[in-house]
Amino acid sequence: MQKLTLTKAVFPVAGLGTRFLPATKAQPKEMLPVVDKPLIQYAVEEAYSAGIRHMIFVTGRNKRAIEDHFDTAYELENELEMADKHALLSLVRSVQPADMNFSYVRQPRSLGLGHAVLCAEHLVGQEAFAVLLADDLMVGPVGGPSVLAQMAAQFESMQQSILAVQEVPPEQTRRYGIVAVQAADAANPGLMRVQRIVEKPAPEVAPSRMGVAGRYILTPAIFEHIRRQATGVGGEIQLTDGISSLLGEEEVYAFQYQGKRYDCGSKEGFLEATVELALQHPEVGVHFRHYLKGLKLD
Ligand code: UTP
Repeated sequence: MQKLTLTKAVFPVAGLGTRFLPATKAQPKEMLPVVDKPLIQYAVEEAYSAGIRHMIFVTGRNKRAIEDHFDTAYELENELEMADKHALLSLVRSVQPADMNFSYVRQPRSLGLGHAVLCAEHLVGQEAFAVLLADDLMVGPVGGPSVLAQMAAQFESMQQSILAVQEVPPEQTRRYGIVAVQAADAANPGLMRVQRIVEKPAPEVAPSRMGVAGRYILTPAIFEHIRRQATGVGGEIQLTDGISSLLGEEEVYAFQYQGKRYDCGSKEGFLEATVELALQHPEVGVHFRHYLKGLKLD
């Protein structure tokens, strides 16, 4: 069989972002900045670090800012050039490296994550692809590979769908797709075979505490399985249900990644990411640490 290579990433950015209203009334939540970069840029950089060069955005209403962000900003670049602000100019240009390609497709209505992924089918074709939910901000270990790069390395040898998973507190199983897993290879304990996957189960019926985080590598067989799905939890076409159906045809793996996930779709996660990334930021980190230490918290 021909080896599958990972060259495309799908970014579903057509959700309504209701947990972040009113900030998301007229702008996509993926454009909310953590320190100085929008969430979507962190996700695109992560995909790039995994060797992916074709970025596919599934957009909806109010998402134009994302297209503009990854487009050339002629007037701005011109102004910066005229003012000899070369560092800022290269910062602006670095958002879209010359070897990166972008495609956009609209999801006409927010019918769920599975439906959003299906909207990208004609752009993905018969290839394996990554899915990144930009509101999950993933930070790899210091000096180590990004979370998607870790998954891409696993995919290189497995050639099967891989889901990023993390252990979640029992009371939070309702927020995640939860997997039941079986050890796969004693030499590679982070990688497990998925036996079952359930969308947002109550803690009493959750098959484990392994929750799926917003990074997936999927084989193209997934599209047919999503297409067969009726609406699931929340009246949406769920990617989880498509993966559950895929399990009847192919092996699917869960991968416990190295690194940290911030749920930036929630206010608490967004604030945690902002504080922790600000503390590490080369420009503002030292001052910000000093400022936090001076706060009288009790
Ligand atoms: P969420 O569950 O976070 O939904 O979607 P949401 O609508 O964005 O946010 P809340 O819950 O209302 O605050 C997870 C990911 O799937 C995308 C979202 O953009 C987000 O990246 N998504 C979800 C779509 O692209 N289309 C959909 O129909 C649903």
